[in-house]
Amino acid sequence: MLNVQDVREQFPILDQEVNGSPLVYLDNAATSQKPIAVIEAIEDYYRRYNSNVHRGVHTLSSVATDGYEGARDKVQSFINAGQREEIVFTRGTTTAINTVAASYGRANLKSGDEIVLTPMEHHSNLIPWQQVAKATGAELKYIPLQADGTVSVESARSTINERTKIVAMVHVSNVLGTMNPIKEVTKIAHENQAIMVVDGAQSTPHTPVDVQELDCDFFAFSAHKMCGPTGIGVLYGKKALLEDMEPFEFGGEMIDEVGLYDATWKEVPHKFEGGTPIIAGAIGLNAAIDFLNDIGLDTIKNHEQQLASYAMDQLGRHDDIEVYGPPANERAGIITFNIHGVHPHDTATVLDTKGVAIRAGHHCARPLMNWLDVAATARASFYLYNTEADVDALVDALVTTKEYFGDVYAE
Ligand SMILES: Cc1ncc(COP(=O)(O)O)c(C=O)c1O
Repeated sequence: MLNVQDVREQFPILDQEVNGSPLVYLDNAATSQKPIAVIEAIEDYYRRYNSNVHRGVHTLSSVATDGYEGARDKVQSFINAGQREEIVFTRGTTTAINTVAASYGRANLKSGDEIVLTPMEHHSNLIPWQQVAKATGAELKYIPLQADGTVSVESARSTINERTKIVAMVHVSNVLGTMNPIKEVTKIAHENQAIMVVDGAQSTPHTPVDVQELDCDFFAFSAHKMCGPTGIGVLYGKKALLEDMEPFEFGGEMIDEVGLYDATWKEVPHKFEGGTPIIAGAIGLNAAIDFLNDIGLDTIKNHEQQLASYAMDQLGRHDDIEVYGPPANERAGIITFNIHGVHPHDTATVLDTKGVAIRAGHHCARPLMNWLDVAATARASFYLYNTEADVDALVDALVTTKEYFGDVYAE
């Protein structure tokens, strides 16, 4: 069992009032809050050993290099990658997926090839593939969603075929909280000699991830959604694939030999980390992983699922609140909904007056909004520091919203 009060004490930002009410932070799918250990690790780097990495022979530089490369080892074991060289630091999930699309995709796709996606992809795992399709003549195909917004293995099997070269799929939907059958779909992709790219932005912070067990070829995630800092993320790639890929950015320590007219690159992962790398970010990510590991990802997952199920029960008591997506036992701690007749931006605005922070909008998933047949939704997303009292505050604030807007919008 998670001791949530203990956890909350480690997040200074949570201890405040917003608009006269205690802050209830339910926008974790956008970004999570940071514990003291992460804030201090970053501060410690800047206070005591700020220095550039890899190039310096002086002491501070070697301490910083140890911190940066130590973070790579930490990430490797966190997602159970086979080798440390398979961990590339990027600016985040978006950059990681763009690297695969621009580097692997452009080199390996041609007209007649197919890229398979789902209609629930975040724009970060959609637009890079649209662009690479336009550039290479490859076609995009979509695995149709089930009525409850889940992806079935059967429909994946009937969409993926010998023309498929890349399957790119979100692990957990940032809108519906749907958990996708990545392992099974990866197997189908591999049976068809396609590679599997996984957007792990919403899974890695909340559930144990084992890339070797999933057997996916690429896996992307961001530190800022898992108690770490903004500006750093990870691209995991199988080493042989990374080795075959051309770098995406050029300059800095990614080079090996440089002449006036040509240059060669360092080995992976360094050839993908052009320029001064994200040193403080990696050090913060290292501390975030320690923090999450100390609590345990299974414990975090259970806690969030309990909260999601409690929230679904509470929201289910209100006929005029429509919750989208699968039942509580098949989703992560993300709940997207609308109050009938009330625009989600209005909902989020009233909630904010009560100190309840949620997200409203298209959640960077416009095609999924079309599939749901809505312009936008409100979204509450939980993390390890949220409580049932937070859910109660959410529901109370929604009742106020209904009272406030009911007459204005009543159909
Ligand atoms: C499912 C999913 N993919 C990708 C991203 C993009 O992550 P980042 O903005 O950190 O690159 C997000 C962030 O909201 C997300 O939820």
